[in-house]
Amino acid sequence: MTDTDIPWWKTAVLYQIYPRSFADSNGDGMGDIAGIIDHLDHLDWLGVDGIWLSPVTVSPNADWGYDVADFCAVQPDLGTLAEFDRLVAEAERRGIRILMDLVPNHTSVEHPWFVDSRSSKTAEKRDWYVWADPGPDGTPPNNWVSSFGGPAWTLDPATGQYYLHNHLSEQPDLNWWSDDVREAFDDVFGFWFDRGVAGFRIDVCNVIIKDAELRDNPPSTEDDDFDVQLFGQQPVYNGNRPEVHDVLRRWRKLTDATDPPRLLIGETPVKVAALAAYYGDGTDELHLAFNFPFITAPFEAEAMRRIVEDTEEHFPAGAWPAWTGSNHDMSRFSSRWAEGDGAKIRTALVMLLGLRGTPVLYQGDEIGLGDRAMAHEDMRDPLGVAYFPAYAGRDAMRTPMPWRSGPGGGFTEAGARPWLPLGDDDGATVEEQRNDPDSVLAFTRRLIALRRETPDLQTGSYRSLPSPAGVWAWRRGDSVTVVLNLTGDDTELEGVEGRVVLDSRNRRQGTAIRGPLTLGPWESVIVVG
Ligand code: NOJ
Repeated sequence: MTDTDIPWWKTAVLYQIYPRSFADSNGDGMGDIAGIIDHLDHLDWLGVDGIWLSPVTVSPNADWGYDVADFCAVQPDLGTLAEFDRLVAEAERRGIRILMDLVPNHTSVEHPWFVDSRSSKTAEKRDWYVWADPGPDGTPPNNWVSSFGGPAWTLDPATGQYYLHNHLSEQPDLNWWSDDVREAFDDVFGFWFDRGVAGFRIDVCNVIIKDAELRDNPPSTEDDDFDVQLFGQQPVYNGNRPEVHDVLRRWRKLTDATDPPRLLIGETPVKVAALAAYYGDGTDELHLAFNFPFITAPFEAEAMRRIVEDTEEHFPAGAWPAWTGSNHDMSRFSSRWAEGDGAKIRTALVMLLGLRGTPVLYQGDEIGLGDRAMAHEDMRDPLGVAYFPAYAGRDAMRTPMPWRSGPGGGFTEAGARPWLPLGDDDGATVEEQRNDPDSVLAFTRRLIALRRETPDLQTGSYRSLPSPAGVWAWRRGDSVTVVLNLTGDDTELEGVEGRVVLDSRNRRQGTAIRGPLTLGPWESVIVVG
C-alpha cells in the first residue's frame, strides 16, 4: 500500500467540538459556529485534521441538539447555513475536515415528521415511528425501559397508542424498518455531503432497529454489568439487533459512492466482541466505532492492555480502531483517569495517540481540562436536572472552553452570562498554556506533530511487549516502542533500544537508551529504533 492509498482518517487526529461550549462570537453566552471559525487557527496550530461537531441542526434542546426538529437546517442560536458553509471552507483552507453529528435513532417531538405521525392512526408518516397498542390493562406494550430511565413508552391520548422512545419522551424513536425513513436519511446524507462535510458521527447507531415483534427484554442477572442490573433488564430486543447491519451496509455503500468517499464513525456503546461486528467484514460497515469498554476502563496497565489486545484480536482485517478518553457524555479523562494530575494526563495522551487507530480528542483535552462540579440550579442537562443528587448528569464535562483568564474566560464577553458556568481555569487556559513550553498543551502539540512525522506511529501494527506489573509497553510497526508506567513508583524495563523521541517529563528527548529503560512515576516515553 502506498501512502496515497491510506485514507485520510486513518492517519488523522480528530477533535470533537461541543459547539454551545466552544466559543461565543456574539455575546449571548452560548458558543456558536462563528466562534468555531474564530478559533480554527488554534486547531490548525495544534495539528488537528478533522472536527466532529456535536449537533448544530435545529432542535428545541430537550437534549441539547440530540432531539432534532430539522436535519437539514442550522439551529438559529448557533448560526446560519451560510456560516456553516463558511466554516467548511475556512476549515478546508487549513486542511481540516468537518464531520457532522447524525441522530438517526430518534427525532424531536417537534419534527414535522412526528407532528404528522402523531396526528392520526392513518397519517402518512404514522409508520415512520414505533407505535403500539396498550396492553389489555392499558399498560405499555412491553417492558422496555428508556436508557434515560423510566418506561420507554409514552401514551399519546389523541390516538390511544403508545410511542417508543429509548431516551427522553421528547425524543420519539424512528421506525427503521420503514423504507421511507431509510430514503429520508439518504437525502440527509446527500444534503450535507453536497455542502462539503467529510462524514458523520452517528448517534447510538447500535440501537436504531428494534425487534419487529417488540418482545419483552429478559430480566438482568447478577452476572450482568452494573448498568444492565441497574435497568433490571438485558437490552436484547430494543437494540443491537442483527438487522442494524443492513442499515450500516446501506450507508457504507452510499458514503463509498461519494467523491471523495465520506467517513462514518459510530457511537457504539457495546462490548469489544460486539463492537467488532459494527465494522462488518472490515470494509462494508462503519469506518470507525467508538470503543466504550476502553473509555470506561480504569487507568491501569493490565485492564487497558486487555481491552486493546481484545480489540486487536476481535477486529476483522481492515478494521481500524478509534481511541478516545472524553466526550460530552462521559467524564473527562483528565478527571476520570488522571485525577487532574499533570503526569497522568500526559501519559494518558501518549496512550491515546500512541495506539494503532484514530485518536479522537474532546475539546479541552489538549489543555488537560477536567470536569467541573456544578450546583443543581446551574445544570442544563435534563438528566442532571431530573436525577440530581443521585446522578449529576453531563454538564460537568460540557463547561465552556477556558480560552484565557478573566471574566468571560475568552469564551464569551466579559459581562455575559455563559450558558453553563465556566470550567475551572486554574492555570488551564489555552492562552497561558500556549506561552508555557512545559504545559499540557505544548505536550499535546508535540505528540501530534511526532505522530504526523512518524509513519509507524500512524499506521504501524500493534504488539504488546512483556513488561513488569503496572507497566504497559507496546511496539508499533518495526520502529516505534511506547512505554507507559501506570504506577506511582519508579520502574525499569529491559530490552528497549533506540532514541527517545518524546518523554512525558520532557527531560531526555533525543537521548539514546543504553541498558534498561528507567521510568519515574506515571512517566511515559516513545522510543524509535
Ligand atoms: C448519545 C449522545 O452522545 C447523547 O448526548 C444523547 O443524549 C443521546 N445519544 C441521545 O441522542
